[in-house]
Amino acid sequence: MTHPFTDTDHFLLGTFSSNCSGGMTVSKLPNRWKADWPGNLRLGKLLDDAGIDFMLPIARWIGYGGETNFHGYVLETVTWATALLANTKNITVFVTAHTAANHPVVVAKQIATIAQISDNRVGLNIVAGWNKPEYDALGLTLPDDHETRYGYAQEWFDIVKKLWAHDGAFNWDGKYFKLKNTYGNPRPTLAPPIFNAAGSGQGREFASRNADFLFTPAIDLSRSKQEVADLKQQGKDNNRNVNVLTFSHVICRPTEAEAKAQWQLLQDNADWVAVDNLIALQFAHAQSFPHDLLALIRERMAAGHGGYPLVGTPQQVADGLCALHEAGFRGTTLSFFDYAEEFPFFRDNVLPILEARGIR
Ligand SMILES: Cc1cc2nc3c(=O)[nH]c(=O)nc-3n(C[C@H](O)[C@H](O)[C@H](O)COP(=O)(O)O)c2cc1C
Repeated sequence: MTHPFTDTDHFLLGTFSSNCSGGMTVSKLPNRWKADWPGNLRLGKLLDDAGIDFMLPIARWIGYGGETNFHGYVLETVTWATALLANTKNITVFVTAHTAANHPVVVAKQIATIAQISDNRVGLNIVAGWNKPEYDALGLTLPDDHETRYGYAQEWFDIVKKLWAHDGAFNWDGKYFKLKNTYGNPRPTLAPPIFNAAGSGQGREFASRNADFLFTPAIDLSRSKQEVADLKQQGKDNNRNVNVLTFSHVICRPTEAEAKAQWQLLQDNADWVAVDNLIALQFAHAQSFPHDLLALIRERMAAGHGGYPLVGTPQQVADGLCALHEAGFRGTTLSFFDYAEEFPFFRDNVLPILEARGIR
């Protein structure tokens, strides 16, 4: 039986990074997103009531420096997801787990427990690791090569899947894990939806074998169409149906001039030290973004952490979402400078257009 989250046919919408200070905006403005629990709870209820599909957190253990230490304040994702699910009715909430920092037997049980609490509304976003200073902060070693990172992630997830599916105890004698008499009880009654956001060849191979949804940045939509088709084909080559998602940043205002002014305000007040640290780290250790598009993405990093800009009137924002849909994306995450303050305008003015156009 497939999970209802995977079965829906409308364009999926979720939020991303509301558990991290600043959200997706690297800004010095004093009213930037705090990411505290009251704000997340308020947001979660608004999204749930509006029929938004999911919330995705970032698992982050240290910030990116600069004056604001962007992402220096972060709510932990297992506890955050559990509390949101306990306070909502329909929305799916993801846990994000770094394979190296979380034991697979513990994660399998955490997810099984949350699945029971939430009537299977929990998903899992798997991160194989890339952020070297964060590994240092945890006393872990980030393997230099992607083969090892994803080889480890594969074994980690094979264990999680077996714990979710296997009735009774088993031993595991792998390269990275030796487990004796281990078992999953309780187990989720439905396999949770799996996200992954690898950018490297090895990571995408991992995603095509294991994930239901793979994220890729939408930088230039003329490239995206082919990329999405290739990623879906890669899934099919592994006999799997892999959908492709992206992430977007929303600045939606009654007039285009107001939206553009807000974009400019974010550029004028960006924490550029943090932006450049973020870019340097991503380029040093990860293959998340195409390296030839650096100049373009620096601005987008400041305003939306590299997310596809949906900036303009409700009509223009809806046009942008339809363009992502036409490029083959199965859905997108949304972020806002102030999620809880700005989402209602999006809900009231953009969602009806998407419904009228038949994608929601
Ligand atoms: C939507 C999305 C969510 C992600 N979530 C996290 C996260 O929570 N924590 C993290 O360390 N990295 C996160 N990443 C980074 C990716 O998981 C991945 O490690 C990175 O893009 C590097 O890809 P590579 O390992 O193939 O080089 C995310 C990326 C995207 C696009």
